[in-house]
Amino acid sequence: MDRQRRQRKDQHIENYLKTRARGTTLLDCVYIEHNALSDVSLKQIDTSIEFMGQKIAMPLMVDAITGGGDSSASINEDLSSICEAINIPMAVGSESIALTDESSRESFELVKQKEDLFRVGNLGFERNYDDFIFARDLIDAKAMQVHLNIAQELVMKEGDNDFHSSIDIIGELVEKFPYPIIVKETGSGISKEVAQKLIEKNVQYIDVAGKGGTNFIEIEDLRDFEMDYSDLYNWGIPTAKSIIDVRSASDDVFIIASGGIKTAMDVVKSIIIGADMAAMTGEVLNYLLRGGYQACEDFLKEINHKIKIIMALLGVRNIEELKKVDYKLIGELKELVED
Ligand SMILES: Cc1cc2nc3c(=O)[nH]c(=O)nc-3n(C[C@H](O)[C@H](O)[C@H](O)COP(=O)(O)O)c2cc1C
Repeated sequence: MDRQRRQRKDQHIENYLKTRARGTTLLDCVYIEHNALSDVSLKQIDTSIEFMGQKIAMPLMVDAITGGGDSSASINEDLSSICEAINIPMAVGSESIALTDESSRESFELVKQKEDLFRVGNLGFERNYDDFIFARDLIDAKAMQVHLNIAQELVMKEGDNDFHSSIDIIGELVEKFPYPIIVKETGSGISKEVAQKLIEKNVQYIDVAGKGGTNFIEIEDLRDFEMDYSDLYNWGIPTAKSIIDVRSASDDVFIIASGGIKTAMDVVKSIIIGADMAAMTGEVLNYLLRGGYQACEDFLKEINHKIKIIMALLGVRNIEELKKVDYKLIGELKELVED
């Protein structure tokens, strides 16, 4: 069982690199305007934000990827060093394997050596309170992510197919758990109705993980040659729509924009339409595995620099001002969000 889970972790990484179906975030349908009389200097621009009471360098984190597979330790070692150096948060992949397989724990625990790293843990909603405490403690996390991944489970041969009472389980966890909880999708997005249900259960952090990037239906499809799920590859709520929908459910919920975030422009547009910060997974993994440690660190530093450049082009000095920038929705996104 644990051997199969270890293999699955490695297959997810390998298959991610092979996937082709990306869909669209629809962030291209967000129009923002150049300010030729921008009244700022690049040096003045501050991209830092406060996230759960801690100052981070820019409104971006590296989202959940791995732990427990053969390739996990080196990926987590590299990403944790890079995120600590840049001062952005990092989530480890699902820690469910570590609950039962002692030998898998080291590949998660190693992130604890990065003392200044903002560490985030990760488990599925079906886990109980004690499991969440164990996973939190394993990496001394500041917060735990609860992932919702029904699209993946349903196409995974050995996956779950009963999702009864998920909202009540999450509600109970949020009520009791002594650390912040982030509820996240994994590439299919969060709708307004789902956000409303989560907010009713006092969920304060939602990571939308919408359509437009990593495609878990395709990743799982590549593990199983008996079935062909390619007609489902386009399933999901585009990330831009998901951000707008979740924001329309609440002014206060903290929104992490993710799912196909690849560029500084994606980060900036996500914040302008309602997110508080963004998260990247696939693109960071691409840079790390295809380009290496330095390429990955340089890529994230460049993102920070380019966010500043775009803010200068818009004439804003900090992220609070960025949130107030005017925008227009065009094309498909406009059609989708307008009743
Ligand atoms: C190889 C791989 C493994 C992942 N494993 C997890 C996981 O264990 N837990 C989780 O919540 N999300 C997991 N994700 C989903 C990401 O955290 C993220 O929500 C999703 O990939 C969308 O972001 P992206 O388009 O920037 O990749 C994984 C993604 C990839 C590519």
